Parts: sequence; structure tokens; C-alpha cells
Amino acid sequence: MKKKVLVLFGGVSSEHEVSLCSASSVISRIPTDRYEIRTMGITKDGRFLLYSGDPALLPEGRWLEDESKLEDAVISCDRSHHGIIHLATCEIEYIDVVFPVLHGKNGEDGTMQGLLEISGIPYVGCDTASSAICMDKAVTNAMADFSGIPQAKWTAFNKNAYLSEKNALLNNAVDKLGFPIFVKPANAGSSVGISKATSIEELEAACNLAFEHDKKIVLEEGIDGYEVECAVLGNDEPIASVVGEIVACNDFYDYDAKYLANKSELHIPARLPADKLEEVRRAAVKAYTALGCAGLTRVDFFVRKSDGLVMLNEPNTIPGFTSISMYPKLFEASGIPYPELIDKLLNYAIER
Ligand SMILES: Nc1ncnc2c1ncn2[C@@H]1O[C@H](COP(=O)(O)OP(=O)(O)O)[C@@H](O)[C@H]1O
Ligand SMILES: [Mg+2]
Repeated sequence: MKKKVLVLFGGVSSEHEVSLCSASSVISRIPTDRYEIRTMGITKDGRFLLYSGDPALLPEGRWLEDESKLEDAVISCDRSHHGIIHLATCEIEYIDVVFPVLHGKNGEDGTMQGLLEISGIPYVGCDTASSAICMDKAVTNAMADFSGIPQAKWTAFNKNAYLSEKNALLNNAVDKLGFPIFVKPANAGSSVGISKATSIEELEAACNLAFEHDKKIVLEEGIDGYEVECAVLGNDEPIASVVGEIVACNDFYDYDAKYLANKSELHIPARLPADKLEEVRRAAVKAYTALGCAGLTRVDFFVRKSDGLVMLNEPNTIPGFTSISMYPKLFEASGIPYPELIDKLLNYAIER
């Protein structure tokens, strides 16, 4: 019997558009001999719509153009339903497993995972707590320190503290971190709101920008390193992929370098010695376990140029999933083709 999978896409998130691209790829690669597919979009203002059209129309929001392919439906939080409710008819439809292909807020941050947890439907990826920990860069950094995982020196503060004691906070940060300093909203993604400061004036501007996206911000010592990424897959005995490397076409891997410029380079495997790559893979599994991840996560590191130290940058619990995205490419290079990867992820969800 085929299992019924519900793919969620879109979402109330600054990464809504990225999700549409990821989901379009995922949907078209789910093995249809084993799974029956339902697709549900969440609009930018939070409306849930079951979509029966072509997944190729997801990017640029074109899935919303044909009303006849859309139907109001919601995920039921009643465990006995184990599925979705069609709102026009009140009909309940059983779902075996959910694949939330949602990036950022309201999708990757534990909130959707909480809803799915209550619904009782197995879902792909990290649970509520792990998703929430990995979404918040200050909490991730604190957990990494607690687990003895090397990373950049860092500090964090919220807007209230900043408004009342700005100069002290900025001066303390400069004393602790030195320049350059990377300033980030604690909860964001796709480099939105992140900038690099090389002077106190730039630091203030960087904080103001980051505060436009979140009421808590993280400041980090700038690392001069190779930027590498490792895909991890599994539950209790996770496996790590080969390691990939990113060479940003801009000063750092900002939004433009990620999605617009199209000139950033990916190298698979990363151009580092074999023993260093092994070290990154071990560090990726260690971070995955320490952060309570399950199903999948792409763990990003810097390998510091001065001494080769492997330093955690950040985990991405729902990484990009287009055909050119790092996560599926890394497993493809590790001998797991995209459709098989999707099948494994759905199985890990059900197993858990
Ligand atoms: N401490 C740091 N040192 C050097 N570069 C950094 C540092 N933190 C972030 N960057 C650069 O900024 C990019 C985005 O930061 P990241 O923390 O990965 O945020 P996001 O969740 O938006 O991807 C990174 O890919 C890297 O190029
Ligand atoms: Mg990143």
C-alpha cells in the first residue's frame, strides 16, 4: 500500500520564496511508486490551501493563479484524525507522513513541528525543541559552548538593553570580539539582516539593521576561514555526507551571493586535505547530536585559515532543497540520489 505524504510549502516567513523553490524540487522527486502525494501551501499571510496543480508552478507564487486547483484545508490537531480536514465538506483525510519544506520562521523554528507533534502525524526533520534551538543563533551558540564545540567568540543582547546602554554594549563587544564583527538577527536565515562591521560606526549601523528583523541580535568575531558544509541524515545513528565548500562571490555569503549573483562557487568535495574533511564530518555528527537533531540537518562550519580549527557556524534544520542546493548535492556525491534521499527522510520520520 502506498503511503500518503503531505508536503507543506510557502509559509509566513522571509524565506517564503526559497521554500517554493525547494518544495517544487522535493515534490517532483518523491518516488510515486511508493507514495501518494498531497501538497499544501501556506500563503504569506498564513492561509492553508490544498493545491492540486503542477509543482513546477510553485516558484514565483504561480500556484495561486488557478482557483480551481486550490481548496481550503487545515492540518487537524485532533490525533484521532491523523490528517487534514477539507473545510468545505468537513471531510477528514488520513495522512501517513508530513514533509514540511518550510524555511525560517513559522516552519523551521519549532512552531510547525509543535502543531505536527500535537496532530500525531509523523513528520520529516527535527522535533520542536531541536528546531527552536537551531533557529535561534544565540541559543545554538550557547548550546555549542555547553557541548564544547569550537566556534567564533560571540555575544548577544536584546533591543531593550541596546536602547538603554548602547555604548557600553558596543564597547564591550569590540573588546571581546575585535574587528571585524558579524552582526546577525538571532532568528532569521538566508543572510537577511546580517552585516560585517569593521569600525564602531559600522557596528552601530549593523546592529540597527539586525534589529529591524528581530528584537535579539548576535555579534560574532569574524572568522577568516574556508566555509564548508556537511549534510547529516538519520535519527539515532546519523551519517554525514561528503563535505562541500562555498566560495562567496561577495565579501561574505550574503543574500545576494546566495540567490541573486549566481557567481558563488560550490566545490564538492571541499578543497581541503582528507583528514580535515574527516574532522569536519565528525564535528557535524557531534553538533547534530548535541543539538538534538533528527531526520536531517545541514551543519555549516568554518575551517580557520590560520590554524585549521574546525568551527561551527550554524545548523540548518530544513536546508535548501532545490536540485542545485547543497544538501541533496552532498548526498548525491555520497552515493544517495535525490529520490532515495527523500524516501529515507520519509522513512526516518515514520520510524521516529
Ligand atoms: N563569525 C563569522 N565569521 C565570518 N563569516 C561569517 C560569520 N558569521 C557569518 N558569516 C558569513 O555570513 C554568512 C551568513 O551567516 P549565517 O550565520 O550562516 O546566517 P544564515 O542563517 O542567514 O545563513 C555565512 O555564510 C558567512 O559567509
Ligand atoms: Mg548560513
